[in-house]
Amino acid sequence: MTLQATDGPIPTTGPLVDTFGRIADDLRVSVTDKCNFRCTYCMPAEGLPWLPREEILRFEEITRLATVFATLGVKEIKLTGGEPTVRRELPSLVAMLRDAQPNLAVSMTTNGYLLDRLAQPLAAAGLDRVTISCDSLMRHHQVLAGMRAAEAAGLTPIKLNCVVIAGTNEDEVVDFARFARDSGYEVRFIEYMPLDAEQHWERAKVVPSRDILAQIDAVFPLTKAGHETEPATSYRFADGAPGAIGVIASVTEPFCDTCNRLRITADGQLRACLFAMHEADLRAPLRSGASDDDIAQIIRTAVWAKWEGHKINHPDFERPARSMSMIGG
Ligand code: GTP
Ligand code: 5AD
Ligand code: SF4
Repeated sequence: MTLQATDGPIPTTGPLVDTFGRIADDLRVSVTDKCNFRCTYCMPAEGLPWLPREEILRFEEITRLATVFATLGVKEIKLTGGEPTVRRELPSLVAMLRDAQPNLAVSMTTNGYLLDRLAQPLAAAGLDRVTISCDSLMRHHQVLAGMRAAEAAGLTPIKLNCVVIAGTNEDEVVDFARFARDSGYEVRFIEYMPLDAEQHWERAKVVPSRDILAQIDAVFPLTKAGHETEPATSYRFADGAPGAIGVIASVTEPFCDTCNRLRITADGQLRACLFAMHEADLRAPLRSGASDDDIAQIIRTAVWAKWEGHKINHPDFERPARSMSMIGG
């Protein structure tokens, strides 16, 4: 679908809108660029040069930004990384966000490794729910323990994110569907995107969501769920079993025309798109005495300039300089 851009002055009131009429009300905040895993689709085995500590936003700065974004109509904050749970004292950040903005939904996407001990304190601090990245059911007892801890702590509904890569884990798709039925979780299959640090992405490694759905449907028939949880399209099991299946077809069926997301990197740069080539610096104004109104106007300007969408499927596609672990997914 082609969106129609409008001209005109950058709005100074109302929700965060871009020239294509999309409203941004979902903010993903990366709280660290570090990670305790090395998923090949994201980070090289040797890691990446980590950001210096003083460049990382402090909890007070994240909370202040969250408050400004909330006044601009943002309804949900998703904590991401790197791996958010490796940031020290993370429950304190959740408590500060909860205290400052009781009506904001606060969730987290995590690899689950540290959830067995952090789920309870995070829930007590006010975290609403978690999404756990899990690309194979054959390893990581620690991650399975994390899922159980999250469930016991009430961080529900629990969703699993599974990036499917041809020749790697596509043979586990039906096992994952069975796991969804047994656990009651929503398992979401994500198409592999060209955001891996090592630039090994190739189109041939993308497994189209429609193939995944067909594979599952042949064993466990699916029916489309009534609700859309953008960007995932959700399905239920036709036989009424618990759990759900979601697909995020970012490459084969881009959903940029309905995108409502914004991202802040751990060093305080606002990205209007996962694939954006430009970032708006929020950290410098935060640290040089800018007022909330000044910051709000910087945000409005950046959102207004948001482009129509990514160009993965166009010959002139260019990868952004930052890879997934620095953006937060
Ligand atoms: P909830 O559904 O709210 O739990 O969030 P989540 O972070 O688990 O999932 P979300 O639906 O926000 O995104 C899951 C994954 O889909 C992300 O980690 C990305 O890999 C991909 N994704 C999310 N937003 C976008 C987007 O704006 N563009 C593209 N291309 N992919 C996205
Ligand atoms: N393509 C698609 N999804 C990715 N993620 C990380 N790297 C990629 C990639 N190259 C997903 C992870 C995690 C979320 C934050 O982003 O699985 O769930
Ligand atoms: Fe770590 Fe997440 Fe990247 Fe995997 S996807 S290496 S868990 S930041």
